[in-house]
Amino acid sequence: MSDPVRFLNSFAHSLGVMTLYPEGHPSREKAVDAAFDELDGLTMPGGQLPAFTFLEDEVVFGRERLRELKSWDWGKRLVAAGIERLELERKITRDEFNAFLEEVLGRLMLSAVDTSEARQMRSLGIRYGAVGLQGQDSIDPALDAAFASLPSGTLRMTLGEEAETFRWLQNEVQSNGAVPLLEAEAVVRSLSVAMHGDSRMVLPLLKLKEFDQYTTTHSLNVAVLAMGLAESLGCRPKEIRSIGVAGLLHDIGKIRIPLEVLTKPGKLNDEERAIMNSHPIDGARVIMQSDEDLGMAATVAYEHHIMLNGGGYPVLHYPRECAMASRLVHVCDVYDALSTKRPYRDAWPSEKTMQYLEERAGTEFDPDLVAAFSRTLKLGQAHVRVLSDEPEQI
Ligand SMILES: [Fe+2]
Ligand SMILES: [Fe+2]
Repeated sequence: MSDPVRFLNSFAHSLGVMTLYPEGHPSREKAVDAAFDELDGLTMPGGQLPAFTFLEDEVVFGRERLRELKSWDWGKRLVAAGIERLELERKITRDEFNAFLEEVLGRLMLSAVDTSEARQMRSLGIRYGAVGLQGQDSIDPALDAAFASLPSGTLRMTLGEEAETFRWLQNEVQSNGAVPLLEAEAVVRSLSVAMHGDSRMVLPLLKLKEFDQYTTTHSLNVAVLAMGLAESLGCRPKEIRSIGVAGLLHDIGKIRIPLEVLTKPGKLNDEERAIMNSHPIDGARVIMQSDEDLGMAATVAYEHHIMLNGGGYPVLHYPRECAMASRLVHVCDVYDALSTKRPYRDAWPSEKTMQYLEERAGTEFDPDLVAAFSRTLKLGQAHVRVLSDEPEQI
């Protein structure tokens, strides 16, 4: 049985050997043979053909993080060479594999790699390259143009699969009362890949198609915005992803709220308001019961409706400052909520929402975070698209 770690190690080994020996040299042929055999026998859980994602400090096989390859040097090199994703479209031959290795080697050897050269090798049955986002409904024509100019070889993500995984995750929480941590992390890693396909940070945001998608689109958007903000504040990749998981799960307590209350077009009565306001405590409870690694997510779920001046809910008996991650998610949460059309009001344009946040900076929101958020939105290109149920296209 092949395994993904063994394949990647022998893949890296062959690249190393190829720099030392010319074509046809026995050592080189032996190394390529060994890597090809590993790849040939490799399948993902479910029998699909292998797909790898390389992040700065992690390697993901399908949706599973390869712990053995944490901070793998070659992963960094591949990312620097514009290779963030590697996937097989069909079984390939030994010759095709050899040609592919030479291409990769060529890219690795270029001292300054231009990621605009990201390309696919579809004819060989292997696609690799940087990752971009499938744009369908951008808010800004200039961004559409920018998107259209992405190199044609850029692999495109639609986030349909991430939304699907999150819906599954919500069902799991509902039926088992526990949050599946690995899947939550997998969604966040995919979002992080989608944010960094281009040389500029991209904020891949989803827009509602149907109302019952609200919690899904909102949760993915808050995760993206929170990671974008954390990144522009200089947080490290691991912290950024923890904040992403916290953003993704901040409203998980809403799974217990009846849909008629969640989607009520008018003002809530006292009883409904009490049900609605219990979601931070319910969310924190379910997260705490799930995994001790989710401490930050539990704190954020508990605190994300508490204002800087202590207002909001739940009411703290002994007022204290909320965690930075909670204050950060609070800003992103309100931004996305106001930017989304709800049964009782239209979506607000970005400028109006920013004005709302700025007017309340210092009372409801942390002013430094509002200022940083405004900068993040200017720096990151927001790609907004309607969530569809079409399968992901990568
Ligand atoms: Fe909330
Ligand atoms: Fe929220």
